[in-house]
Amino acid sequence: MGNVPRFILGLTMAVLLPNFVVSFPTKTKIDTSTDQSALQALKAHVVSDPQKILETNWSITTSVCNWVGVTCGSQHQRVISLNLSNMLLTGTLPPQIGNLSFLASLNLMNNSFHGSLPIQLANLHRLRFIELGENYFYQEIPSWFDSFPKLQYLSLSANKFTGQIPSGMFERLPKLQSLNLGMNNLSGNIPMDLLKCKELQFINLESNRLEGILPKEIGNLTMLRSLHLDNNRIQGAIPFDFPNLLNLEQLNISFNMFRGFIPSTISNLTSLTILDISANYLSGEIPSDMFERLSKLQDLDLSLSWIRTSIPMSLFKCKELQIMNLANCALGGILPKEIGNLTMLRSLDLSFNEIKGNGKLLDAVLVFCCLFQSVG
Ligand SMILES: *[C@@H]1O[C@H](CO)[C@@H](O)[C@H](O)[C@H]1NC(C)=O
Ligand SMILES: *[C@@H]1O[C@H](CO)[C@@H](O)[C@H](O)[C@H]1NC(C)=O
Ligand SMILES: *[C@@H]1O[C@H](CO)[C@@H](O)[C@H](O)[C@H]1NC(C)=O
Ligand SMILES: *[C@@H]1O[C@H](CO)[C@@H](O)[C@H](O)[C@H]1NC(C)=O
Ligand SMILES: *[C@@H]1O[C@H](CO)[C@@H](O)[C@H](O)[C@H]1NC(C)=O
Ligand SMILES: *[C@@H]1O[C@H](CO)[C@@H](O)[C@H](O)[C@H]1NC(C)=O
Ligand SMILES: *[C@@H]1O[C@H](CO)[C@@H](O)[C@H](O)[C@H]1NC(C)=O
Ligand SMILES: *[C@@H]1O[C@H](CO)[C@@H](O)[C@H](O)[C@H]1NC(C)=O
Ligand SMILES: *[C@@H]1O[C@H](CO)[C@@H](O)[C@H](O)[C@H]1NC(C)=O
Repeated sequence: MGNVPRFILGLTMAVLLPNFVVSFPTKTKIDTSTDQSALQALKAHVVSDPQKILETNWSITTSVCNWVGVTCGSQHQRVISLNLSNMLLTGTLPPQIGNLSFLASLNLMNNSFHGSLPIQLANLHRLRFIELGENYFYQEIPSWFDSFPKLQYLSLSANKFTGQIPSGMFERLPKLQSLNLGMNNLSGNIPMDLLKCKELQFINLESNRLEGILPKEIGNLTMLRSLHLDNNRIQGAIPFDFPNLLNLEQLNISFNMFRGFIPSTISNLTSLTILDISANYLSGEIPSDMFERLSKLQDLDLSLSWIRTSIPMSLFKCKELQIMNLANCALGGILPKEIGNLTMLRSLDLSFNEIKGNGKLLDAVLVFCCLFQSVG
């Protein structure tokens, strides 16, 4: 583009996203026509644009920096962010996308992009944010996802990725905070190199076909706030013999093949608000002190376990509980009147157990719980 000023820069400048700093080599001649031709190539690979968003807006008579979904660095006028989320676009990604060499953020979420990811994406070493969720990308996850030393956020969720998570994928992603590979068709084990991403806070691998065990070293990820592994085929014991996950707020490992007892060490996960370990092959008893320190718990699901004990009194210390599902647990004993202490409760399911109650107790429950699912 002739009208774009050429900058000779030896600067470091902050760009739109927090902590995003792009440093320039000195005396770089800035050429925005590269970005323009890369985006034109992308537009040419969009085969359906029912809202005519790119069709009408991405006009070569204006600078790419004015195009919808495109953000440029304020001084160097290079594309730093591409956000085409929710635009009903159908198409593929052309190799030229790898020429957007200043790109820090790529968001194509909720479109119908398909095909495989071009290897040229691996040239975009400045990427910190990659959101490709809710599309139809397929084939295996490429092996070059270790090319982004600054990557903080990666989501490939709800696509058609298949095969194993590539080994080495997480070797060189030291800044990764959020990972979502959920709702694909991934098989194989949870890769051990994930444990090298010490800054991980959110892990979502739900609804794949992952197997193997959950390595106990997961407890070394001390920043972890959310772990969703539900709806896979993960086996072995629940390895929560670690005291370090003090920030863990959400744990969902339901619908897997975990065996053995519920570890009493869960009681050390004192930040938990969501705990769902339902639909595994857990047996034994609910540890009596399990809930002693889980005072923030809001949503508890132990259903479809073979627990065969009575409800521990420590459960009634969870004053924030809103949803409690203990259905199909082979629980016995009586329903303690302290259930009435859980004044936030709006859903309680105790069906298919052998819990004894009496009319009075159940009435009390009804009074205290505003929404009642079933009491068996
Ligand atoms: C493209 O969209 C942007 C942002 O919505 C707007 O500012 C600009 O005027 C549009 N350009 C054209 C040519 O429609
Ligand atoms: C992208 O656009 C959507 C709206 O379509 C917006 O919600 C989101 O915050 C934008 N930003 C990024 C970084 O993706
Ligand atoms: C996906 O995008 C379409 C079109 O903008 C929108 O109607 C729909 O609500 C979006 N879906 C999600 C899950 O955000
Ligand atoms: C952009 O990318 C394509 C394909 O990767 C390449 O052939 C082309 O030379 C690149 N450079 C420019 C300036 O478009
Ligand atoms: C999932 O992957 C397996 C191979 O690992 C394949 O046989 C199967 O068809 C895939 N399923 C879907 C829905 O793509
Ligand atoms: C996890 O931490 C323990 C000590 O807390 C250490 O011995 C072990 O090597 C660590 N494992 C990994 C995979 O980082
Ligand atoms: C846990 O995962 C299962 C299976 O994917 C899902 O049905 C359930 O709603 C999740 N539990 C919570 C508390 O979000
Ligand atoms: C809970 O953590 C403390 C250290 O914070 C440790 O001494 C104790 O053994 C842990 N309890 C369980 C049941 O793991
Ligand atoms: C339940 O509430 C009553 C009355 O407020 C209180 O005396 C009792 O200690 C509570 N029980 C538990 C297990 O929290």
